[in-house]
Amino acid sequence: MTNLGWDFSGKVAIVTGAGGGIGRAYALGLARAGAQVVVADIDQRACELVAQEILSQDLEAKAVEVDISNPDSVTRMVGITQEVFGGVDLLVNNAAIFGDMKLDFLITVDLDYLKGFLDVNLLGALLCVRATYKAMESRGGGAIVNQSSTAAYLYSGYYGLAKAAINSLTQQLANELGSMNIRVNAIAPGPTLTEASAKVVPPDYMQSLVHSLALPRQGLPEDLVGMCLFLLSDQASWITGHIFNVDGGQVMRP
Ligand SMILES: NC(=O)c1ccc[n+]([C@@H]2O[C@H](COP(=O)([O-])OP(=O)(O)OC[C@H]3O[C@@H](n4cnc5c(N)ncnc54)[C@H](O)[C@@H]3O)[C@@H](O)[C@H]2O)c1
Repeated sequence: MTNLGWDFSGKVAIVTGAGGGIGRAYALGLARAGAQVVVADIDQRACELVAQEILSQDLEAKAVEVDISNPDSVTRMVGITQEVFGGVDLLVNNAAIFGDMKLDFLITVDLDYLKGFLDVNLLGALLCVRATYKAMESRGGGAIVNQSSTAAYLYSGYYGLAKAAINSLTQQLANELGSMNIRVNAIAPGPTLTEASAKVVPPDYMQSLVHSLALPRQGLPEDLVGMCLFLLSDQASWITGHIFNVDGGQVMRP
């Protein structure tokens, strides 16, 4: 993977859920484009490995263990970012409960589990925005990318419910933060090959899903990086409040 032509030198980025899968690809993409990257994840070992992978390429990264559903933990993550890199410009809200999620229905899932799930998969992104926007404003603005999913538009129970809410959060926050020159957009990936998706989506179902795509192959994390970097870059300086599908043509919205 190259830097895809983007230049983020002088920019500090936090990528949550960057200990593997798509978040790792976003963190690597940003670092290769010159950003100083905080590789944040609840899995300390995983984020340390990704940070080491970036550092071994003579690029800049710092691993930070975080639980995005815990306000103190999120505040700590932002504090470390400011201490180590001097500020925050960019935030990628990618972390979510996905690979290990309990498969159940909205009408039967244990209520405490559902609340804990939404604390991470919906409110986690909001907590990270609340903890970073003032730091972004103090540097003249910033950009945020939230990780949605095509599941927001399809039946997928509480996973889709949280992703639809992430879309709405994106639009609401774009309005609240626009006057501070902070842009908020979202990416809705289609079925993308990661350890987590291999764990949670049965192979037969994945095969039929892939056959239904206009571009009939499973996406790779690298397929999503260009959109993420574009939305974080100044080339997207008049784009906010939008959800961009990167999905092989899975869901074509009017
Ligand atoms: N893989 C796909 O097909 C696909 C498709 C659409 C959207 N997505 C979304 O993309 C993102 C990444 O998915 P992935 O396939 O790479 O899965 P993944 O499980 O590898 O990534 C999620 C990361 O979030 C971390 N995480 C979980 N809870 C956390 C918490 N409380 N605090 C901090 N970190 C936490 C996990 O440790 C993990 O590293 C998720 O938001 C997922 O919903 C994935």
